[in-house]
Amino acid sequence: MRITERKQVLDYYKKEKVAQGYIKKRFTEPLNFVEHKRQVNLINNIITNYDCKYILEFAPGPARLTAELNLENIKEGISIESSSSMLKIAENRMKSNHHYHRWSFVNDDVFKYKNKNNQRYDLIFTIRFLLHFKAEERNKIYQQASNLLNEGGLLSFEVMNKNIVLPLRKILGKKRYFVYDKLYTKKEFKEEMENNGFKVIKMFPILKQFWLQALFSRPLKIIKMNNLARKIIFFLEKFRSNEPYEWIVLCQKK
Ligand SMILES: C[S@@+](CC[C@H](N)C(=O)[O-])C[C@H]1O[C@@H](n2cnc3c(N)ncnc32)[C@H](O)[C@@H]1O
Repeated sequence: MRITERKQVLDYYKKEKVAQGYIKKRFTEPLNFVEHKRQVNLINNIITNYDCKYILEFAPGPARLTAELNLENIKEGISIESSSSMLKIAENRMKSNHHYHRWSFVNDDVFKYKNKNNQRYDLIFTIRFLLHFKAEERNKIYQQASNLLNEGGLLSFEVMNKNIVLPLRKILGKKRYFVYDKLYTKKEFKEEMENNGFKVIKMFPILKQFWLQALFSRPLKIIKMNNLARKIIFFLEKFRSNEPYEWIVLCQKK
C-alpha cells in the first residue's frame, strides 16, 4: 500500500512497531549515519549563527535530531508530534541531552496546533516531514509556520534533489519507498517558497558526492567495515558539487 494522504502518514507513524524500528533503520547504513550527522551539525550551526532563542520543531519522531542538538544558549524549545509511540522514545532519548530542561514535547497534530501563550518563534525546523505531503498540505504547513514565526523568523527543513533521488529510486524500485516523498529541482523549490511567503536564504548540500559515497556504503557495511565507510563518506563531503542528495534549506519569512 502506498502512503500518500495526510491521515495515512499520521496513522502509519502511530504504530508501535514503526516507532520502535525507526532509529535503527535510520542508522544502519553508513550513508544514513553521515546524512544524520550532517543534518544535526547544520541545524546546530543555524541555531548558533542566527542566535535562535525560541525554537519550534514539527514532527520530531523519536527525537533523532532533537536529542543531539546543542541547546545550551536557547531559552525555550518545543516539539510537536502526533504519535505517542514516537514521543515515548523521544522523551527517553532526550534524557541524554544536558539541556533537556529547556525543551518540551507536545502530543498534537501540526496542522491543528495552536499555541496558547501566543509565543512566536525565531526558528522552526522539521526534517522528514514536509516532503511526505502533496502541495495543498505543504502550503498549509508553510502557513502554520508563518503564523508561529516572528517577523523575519527562520524555517529550516530538508529538500531532496530530484536529479539524484529519482534515478536512485528507479534503480531500487517503488516497493522500498511506499511513503510519498516530494522531490525538487532547486528552481522548483525556490518557486514554491516564494509562492508561500518565504525567501530562500541558504541551501546547504548533504551527501555531495552521492553516487561515489554510495559505492563505499553498502559494500563496506557488508564486510563489517562501517567505521571505514563512514570516514570515507565524511571525507568526500569536503568536495563541492551542484548535485547533492539533499539540501538543508534555510528560509526566511518575508
Ligand atoms: C519520517 S518521521 C520524521 C521524524 C524525525 N523528524 C526525523 O527526521 O527522524 C515523520 C514524523 O511525523 C509525524 N507526523 C506525521 N503527521 C503528523 C502531524 N500531522 N502532526 C505531527 N506529527 C506528525 C510522525 O508521527 C513521525 O514521527
